[in-house]
Amino acid sequence: MNSEYENPQPVRPRRLRYNPAVRRLVEEYRVVPQRLIQPLFVCEGVGVKAEISSMPGVYQMSLDVLCDEVKTLQNLNLGGIILFGIPAEKDEEGSDALSDEGIIARAVREAKAAAPNLLCLTDVCFCEYTSHGHCGALAQIGGRIEVDNDTTLEMLAKQALVHARAGADMLAPSGMMDGMVGAMRDALDDNGFQHLPILSYAVKYASAFYGPFRDAAESSPQFGDRRSYQMQPSAIAESAIREAELDLMEGADMIMVKPALAYLDIIRLMREHFPEVPLAAYNVSGEYSMVKAAALRGWLDEKATVLESLIAIQRAGAGIIITYWAKKVAQEWLP
Ligand code: PBG
Repeated sequence: MNSEYENPQPVRPRRLRYNPAVRRLVEEYRVVPQRLIQPLFVCEGVGVKAEISSMPGVYQMSLDVLCDEVKTLQNLNLGGIILFGIPAEKDEEGSDALSDEGIIARAVREAKAAAPNLLCLTDVCFCEYTSHGHCGALAQIGGRIEVDNDTTLEMLAKQALVHARAGADMLAPSGMMDGMVGAMRDALDDNGFQHLPILSYAVKYASAFYGPFRDAAESSPQFGDRRSYQMQPSAIAESAIREAELDLMEGADMIMVKPALAYLDIIRLMREHFPEVPLAAYNVSGEYSMVKAAALRGWLDEKATVLESLIAIQRAGAGIIITYWAKKVAQEWLP
């Protein structure tokens, strides 16, 4: 039946959507478990599996629980895990992070022993280990107490070696110190770890979306905020290029943008500027909690929202995604 408003165009985009078989053929992006990384929070104790109140479904776990978890994740064919240590005692220097018997060192050893084929990344930073909650050593700078960049570099080099000796497969510095990748690279190379790759949190914004993570890692700054080291969301977008360029010059093997969903433009900018570099994005805690909260109220379909978001992050240009949904996606949501 001809309608009065018959479409005059020869091209009808709907032809490529008109049945499920056609839609499947033109599917360009796909969520696969081997490109997803699951963050895990490790704490002291035995048999501890404590849910984070602002992140339903995410837990702090003790080493024994971690071991069971990584075995499951290995079987799910995930891209890997990224471990965050939460020590029982925090101090000014974050010394637990610098000990081969600290929580993160033991967590890496146990995880690698339990699941040798599961890629184990570590977050290299101090905020989970310091009593003040900042990402490095403090000093008086211009009349204010601030994180001292170059003292922190020395500490990061030491922390990198702790993780490397424990058996981490890849290190991910997240503190946004200038020169952090170079300092870690030198330390690794001088100590027989030339083969270990660095995934730099090269482009990390000072973001309100990290709020729930700080509950999980008990890492809220006790005074001030992180705006003197993490990037300013309102600064020119292209400053991200500079950050990434520096890290790559210092030897970063891969780079990451963080957060993900409010920064898809930045992901795309990185993809276009550094097409040769594997690019990751961190779908952060606040992005998790928002969807989770709405889903718990029945306001959003969690599975559909998450899978659509992961596709959006890929389409922007990040092939590797750190997400709190990694396990759920691999275990329950992929056909
Ligand atoms: C710092 C670190 C943070 C996150 C990952 N690494 C927190 C921060 O910078 O305050 C945030 C991750 C998230 O929000 O999910 N070690």
